[in-house]
Amino acid sequence: MRQKTFLVFGATGQTGQHFVALALKAGHKVRALARNPEKLTSTGADLRVHPGSIHTAADWAGLVPGADYVVAMLGDRKTQEKHNINTAFVRSLIPAMRAHGVKRLLYQAGGLTRVPGRRLSPVVWTIRKSVARGYEGQHRDNEAVLRYLMQDAGDIEWMVHRAGIGSNGPSRGVLQRSASKISIATFQDCAAYNYRTVLDPAAVHTYDMSKYQK
Ligand SMILES: NC(=O)c1ccc[n+]([C@@H]2O[C@H](COP(=O)([O-])OP(=O)(O)OC[C@H]3O[C@@H](n4cnc5c(N)ncnc54)[C@H](OP(=O)(O)O)[C@@H]3O)[C@@H](O)[C@H]2O)c1
Repeated sequence: MRQKTFLVFGATGQTGQHFVALALKAGHKVRALARNPEKLTSTGADLRVHPGSIHTAADWAGLVPGADYVVAMLGDRKTQEKHNINTAFVRSLIPAMRAHGVKRLLYQAGGLTRVPGRRLSPVVWTIRKSVARGYEGQHRDNEAVLRYLMQDAGDIEWMVHRAGIGSNGPSRGVLQRSASKISIATFQDCAAYNYRTVLDPAAVHTYDMSKYQK
């Protein structure tokens, strides 16, 4: 594949670090917004790290023109308890993408993210309200992002990964999209899934989970 430019939000996070390394290894250019650029472990001539926050459009709006793919693996659990910060960001990002003809966005949410108009299964709902209750704000924010994309961004080639992640261990296989089943994967495998999925036109307007291939 010809060299592409990936604009990455959340590059210093647990999934993002793996994603940046993968995209660079595949020969692409990466533009990363980071509050703390020194946290990024990847280096190289094809990586540009721009200091800043998603809360300040002036920090990131200049990174959108010329990007081929936008990938968001964002989270701030504490702040998301009170504010839908990812939703506010995506609501600014989408018009910026439109303005510059940037079409494709992959947004990583979670396996406990409810799809608008659907219910979580009783088992998943119980997990969300018990062991995962500390992440309720993040789930709500991810749900609001998905609702916004479904209702107001049909012209953008978005895709949402409802990821299940359990550890930062080594690869356990290849994840594939699944509407009904989820694997508890590693960050590395989720990043590889995000990389493959954002390049896949068949994944546009999907909000699937990911499951290891047998
Ligand atoms: N972790 C899990 O087990 C898990 C499981 C399933 C789904 N998910 C979903 O996957 C997504 C990413 O999770 P993760 O665990 O990979 O992320 P993470 O390790 O929590 O990292 C989050 C990333 O977002 C960045 N960020 C937060 N606020 C920002 C701001 N204001 N401006 C710029 N960057 C900001 C962080 O930057 P800093 O380095 O500066 O903090 C970091 O790079 C979340 O939506 C989460 O719900 C996570």
